[in-house]
Amino acid sequence: MPLEIQVRTAQALELTADVLVVGILQTTGKGRLPPSLKPIDDALGGALAKLVAREEFSGKRDQTIALSTLGRIGADKLIVAGLGDRRSVGAPEIRTFAAKAARAANVEKAASLAIAVPIGLEGELRALAEGLELGAYRFTKYLTGERKPKRALATVTVGLAGRSKPNAKAMVSVGQQVGSAVNFSRDLSNEPPNVIYPETFAAAAESLGKTHGLRVQVFDFKEIRRRGMKLIDAVGRGSAREPRFVHMSWTPKGAKRKLVFVGKGITFDSGGISIKPAAGMGEMKHDMSGAANVVALMAAVAAVKPKVEVHAIASCAENMPDGDAYRPGDVWGSLDGKTVEIVNTDAEGRLVLADALAYARALDPDLLVDNATLTGACMVALGSTTSGWYASHDDAAREFAAALKESGESMWRMPLLEDLREQIKSEVADVKQAGDRYGGSITAALFLREFAGPGRWIHCDIAGPASIDRPHGWAQAKGATGHAVLTFLALIERSAR
Ligand code: BES
Ligand code: MN
Ligand code: ZN
Repeated sequence: MPLEIQVRTAQALELTADVLVVGILQTTGKGRLPPSLKPIDDALGGALAKLVAREEFSGKRDQTIALSTLGRIGADKLIVAGLGDRRSVGAPEIRTFAAKAARAANVEKAASLAIAVPIGLEGELRALAEGLELGAYRFTKYLTGERKPKRALATVTVGLAGRSKPNAKAMVSVGQQVGSAVNFSRDLSNEPPNVIYPETFAAAAESLGKTHGLRVQVFDFKEIRRRGMKLIDAVGRGSAREPRFVHMSWTPKGAKRKLVFVGKGITFDSGGISIKPAAGMGEMKHDMSGAANVVALMAAVAAVKPKVEVHAIASCAENMPDGDAYRPGDVWGSLDGKTVEIVNTDAEGRLVLADALAYARALDPDLLVDNATLTGACMVALGSTTSGWYASHDDAAREFAAALKESGESMWRMPLLEDLREQIKSEVADVKQAGDRYGGSITAALFLREFAGPGRWIHCDIAGPASIDRPHGWAQAKGATGHAVLTFLALIERSAR
C-alpha cells in the first residue's frame, strides 16, 4: 500500500504526528540553535537548545538529535536531522533524508510521520516522496504472529517552510509511483526461490504489464529452444523449473529514441555442477535482481510516460546441478550463432545474458543497457555498495555518467581492457565462457561484448549493491535494494528531454 502523503506550508511546531522529523540545512554556528527550531525549543522549555549545544549540532549531513517530547508539541518523538550545506543538497540527498525519516518512523512503531522541509527545497518533492516510499519499505510478508509488525507507517505530512509549488501534488504522485516501482523490484528479489522461479517471475511481469497497460511477451522453454536461445537452454536445463524469456515494451507515438534494458534473471544460482559452497548460498535468490530491475523500471516508465521507446528484457532460468545439466567442457551454440566453450557452470549469468543481448540487438536500439549480479570479482574491485559499469562508446559513457549524477547511485566506470581478451580465447569454440580469477569482472564484460554487437552498449555489474546487510543511503531495509532502477529511469528521462 502506498503511503498517504499530504503537503502543506507550515512551521515545524504546527505539525502533528507520532514522529516529527525536522530537516536542518548546515549553518556555521556549531552548537547554536538554528532559528527555525526556536518555537519548538520554547515549547520544550529549552531542552532542544541544550542538546544542540551538547552535540555541537550544526546541520552537517547525517547529524541527528532525537528526543521524546513528553507531549509538549504535536509529536511524541522529535528527530532533528542535518541535511548538509545547501549547495550540496539535491534530489539524492533529499531522497536519503526522507528514506531515513520513514525508516525512523517504522522503528518507532509510528503510524504517522511529519517531516519539516527547510525553505528553498520545495522543488524536491518528487525525490522526497521517492525516499519516503523507499525508506518505509520492509519485506515482512512471511512473518506471522508475534513476528508480524503490528504497525506500519501509513500517513505522512510534509510541512514546507516555503510556499508550495503548483505542481506539488504531481511531484509527490510521480515520486510515490517511482518509489513503489523500485520496491516492486525489491519484492521480486526478496521473494524466496521456491516462490519466485522463472515461471512465476514471468507471471509477475505479465500482471505488472496488465496493470500499467504495457505489452508483455513471454517465451516458454519450447519457444526459447525453437528460437535457438541455446545458452539459456544450457543454463536452465538442469532445473525442474523451466526457463522463461520476458520482453516488455513501452512504445509511445512520436518517440525520440529507443532504449533497451536487459536483466539477468537467475532465480536461484546454486552454481550448477560447479556447485557453490553452502555458506551464503541462500543469498543467490537475489541473482535475478537485474531482471527484477528492468521489469520494475517499466512500472516507473508507465508513471512518467516519456516520449521514448523503452524495452525491458528479462532472461530467466534457475541454475541447478542435475543429470541433464550442462557441464564444464561442453560446447554450446547461441542465438547469435557463436559457439561457447563452458569452463564453469557457475558463470551462468553471462550465458543467459548473451542470448538476451543478441535478441535485444535485433531491436536496433539507440542504446542497449544490461544489468546483472554478475561477478564476485566486481565486489572485490569496488566493495559491496558500488557497482561497476562498462561502456562500448565514450558518448554512451557520457550519457550514462550524466544519468548517474542525477540518480545519485554509486557506480564506477570500469575499463574493457583489450589485453584481457586473451583469457576468453578458446581452442575448441569461438569464445570461452570465462577467464581466470584476475580481472574477472572485466573478462565477463568482454564476453558479453561479443554478443552485444557494435552498437552503443552499457553493462552494469550490480553483484554488490543489489542487496545489502546494513542500511545504505535510501536503501534502509536488509535484502534487495533495487539499485540501478533510478539510474535507468534518469537515462530514459534525459532521452525524453
Ligand atoms: N551470481 C554470481 C555472482 C555473485 C556473487 C553475485 C556474489 C552476488 C554475490 C555469478 O553467477 C557467479 O557465480 N560468478 C562467478 C563467476 C566465476 C565462476 C567465473 C564468480 O563471481 O565467482
Ligand atoms: Mn553463478
Ligand atoms: Zn549467478
